Amino acid sequence: MDSQTQTQTFHFVNGSSPSSLSPDHILPQEKRPNLTHTPLLSSVPVIDMTEEPHASVVQKISKACEEFGFFQIINHGVPRELCDTVLALLAAFFELPPQEKAPFLATDETRHRQVKLVNYHVKTDGETRVCMWSECLAHPWHPLDDVVHLLPQNPLRYREVIAEYSKEIYVLMKRLLSLISQGLGLEQDCLETKLGETPTFRAQGNYYPPCPDPELTLGLNVHTDISALTIVRQSEGVTGLQVLQNGNWVPVEPIPDAFVINIGDQIQVLSNGRFRSVHHRAVTNKTRKRVSMATFYGPSKDTIIGPIRDLIDEQHPPLYREYHFSEFLEEFFKQEGTRRMVTEMFE
Ligand code: SIN
Ligand code: FE2
Repeated sequence: MDSQTQTQTFHFVNGSSPSSLSPDHILPQEKRPNLTHTPLLSSVPVIDMTEEPHASVVQKISKACEEFGFFQIINHGVPRELCDTVLALLAAFFELPPQEKAPFLATDETRHRQVKLVNYHVKTDGETRVCMWSECLAHPWHPLDDVVHLLPQNPLRYREVIAEYSKEIYVLMKRLLSLISQGLGLEQDCLETKLGETPTFRAQGNYYPPCPDPELTLGLNVHTDISALTIVRQSEGVTGLQVLQNGNWVPVEPIPDAFVINIGDQIQVLSNGRFRSVHHRAVTNKTRKRVSMATFYGPSKDTIIGPIRDLIDEQHPPLYREYHFSEFLEEFFKQEGTRRMVTEMFE
């Protein structure tokens, strides 16, 4: 999630929000979420990771990746209390006074820093910036040893808890890559191998304070994830994440102790378009804050990405050309505010 560029101010003092929207949060009509027109036609599949036989988990994941690009998992083995603590500590960080968070703010000069606080905005007409109704803390999540000292020290347990969470997510990420590989009819380690020996591990904590008018703004603008695979933990009781399916925005309902999993652009390409990297967005809530933690797994810049040969035949000619991931990133960051689909860029 990076297509939306960044600004350097605090809009939400101590995590509380203003009572009305300032003009710089108000989207033009055509970019507003249109919440009253969100029909509940379908929902993102929920998959029980302990279901027997194993083949049925693989088949369900594969179907979800084809149809939605998104699914939720339950009985995944990651301790619930650890996940709850991650979200609670994230909220505590975002609710700190501005002077405590200021050292993490990304400016133009510091935008390449490993650990940064980001306030995304979109450019609506090439010039006008509209800020998203969120604050985001981005940092690596694995391996943490080299960067743990850069993470916030306040709240006190953030570093320690993220280190523990990171270990659990690492195991889960590998397990999912294996299941997704199997779902494509490939060897278990195929996707992990194709994504290279030195993958990129980025995390983004998202904080959406209550919003006086959710119809006028967004928490995160419409985007696809540029990495390969994403694991999201979202707070319970507040819906915010929405996925585009057949032209409709489908809410990803929070389910107790579930993770939301989504396919990123790189698996769309590796799978030759069979598994989809789907547009999604976060909407805001009038009375309740929402917190989420997204952990991304992607290739390193020098990794070559392209449709996996075993998935190509006469009926399935390659939909994309091969590229270095650095090339993909270059193209991606050239785009200002709007998000072209990976298909347009690499066909
Ligand atoms: C996202 O990372 O795209 C959205 C995460 C969320 O708030 O659910
Ligand atoms: Fe995303």
